[in-house]
Amino acid sequence: KRREEFVEGSSSLWREDCRAKGGSPGFKVAILGAAGGIGQPLALLMKMNPLVSVLHLYDVVSTPGVTADISHMDTGAVVRGFLGQNQLEDALTGMDLVIIPAGVPRKPGMTRDDLFNINAGIVKTLSEGIAKCCPKAIVNLISNPVNSTVPIAAEVFKKAGTYDPKRLLGVTMLDVVRANTFVAEVLGLDPREVNVPVVGGHAGVTILPLLSQVKPACSFTQEETEYLTSRIQNGGTEVVEAKAGAGSATLSMAYAAVKFADACLRGLRGDAGVTELPFFASRVRLGRSGVEEIYPLGPLNEYERVGLEKAKKELAGSIDKGVSFNEMKT
Ligand code: NAI
Repeated sequence: KRREEFVEGSSSLWREDCRAKGGSPGFKVAILGAAGGIGQPLALLMKMNPLVSVLHLYDVVSTPGVTADISHMDTGAVVRGFLGQNQLEDALTGMDLVIIPAGVPRKPGMTRDDLFNINAGIVKTLSEGIAKCCPKAIVNLISNPVNSTVPIAAEVFKKAGTYDPKRLLGVTMLDVVRANTFVAEVLGLDPREVNVPVVGGHAGVTILPLLSQVKPACSFTQEETEYLTSRIQNGGTEVVEAKAGAGSATLSMAYAAVKFADACLRGLRGDAGVTELPFFASRVRLGRSGVEEIYPLGPLNEYERVGLEKAKKELAGSIDKGVSFNEMKT
């Protein structure tokens, strides 16, 4: 209790003071869908993040158990659980960062787009809560189909007059994580040393790895390029099939989400030079107000140019779908 009062009572002054001293400011983070396959390991990892002072776990089921469990970890963040729609506003009030893995995952044979009907409504409701209770928060949207759920959230925020494109981020970090791993395998390198830009979107051909821009500089045969592009684009399906009906990527997704969330928090803290990230449509620099710079795609080779055209075409359709979903409902 005393610790909660300390964290609550001192928050903004404490943060400024910490910032001035170059220390950790402690941010408030909410996870929506926290009891799910991604949500639970994500909550675990965020409880371990020294930049987090308050961690809110919201879901429509099971949050009391998950919260009790996670709250016993002897790390800094204070953890609170919120269960069901009527606790959504309390879960969101005052948050700096909201991470959303709420919604149903794929089963074998499904595309991410097959999830649209269920997840679109969930994302819309949660976004309305954000617009009302923490309109300045950075939003990391994981729920699929990301290519359409990000436009849905954008439309909700626009309607509420709170839309700031710098603060709404679809999480495609898992594509980058996979690309780094698969490319490192082919090159015989440690994946921690490999950086593969992946741009576009987060489904099939919209996932566009830029293999000509891999660091450290290297080259691939046409066969390797095709193998890697296909494996990166279908990495999610590889996991869905291996889990054989028990869901999609959860552990590697939680890892990727934390990597991304941590970069957002370091951006909020005002760190320089640590936040260049490939995501959604481009690599970006994150800062105190969210995305501060969008980096250009850089020189593309012929193979990537063809891929980019395909990605743009499909992405445009998914975005339209998200936008018109909101128009239908209003
Ligand atoms: P899951 O079914 O294990 O967990 C989802 C959680 O969301 C459940 O605990 C459920 O109770 C909760 N939920 C449902 N409706 C809700 C609502 N209205 N408000 C709050 N919570 C609600 O699913 P999993 O595996 O955790 O996946 C979650 C989402 O993440 C799926 O849409 C999946 O496709 C997506 N995903 C995205 C990836 C990416 O790279 N962006 C990678 C892997 C999955």
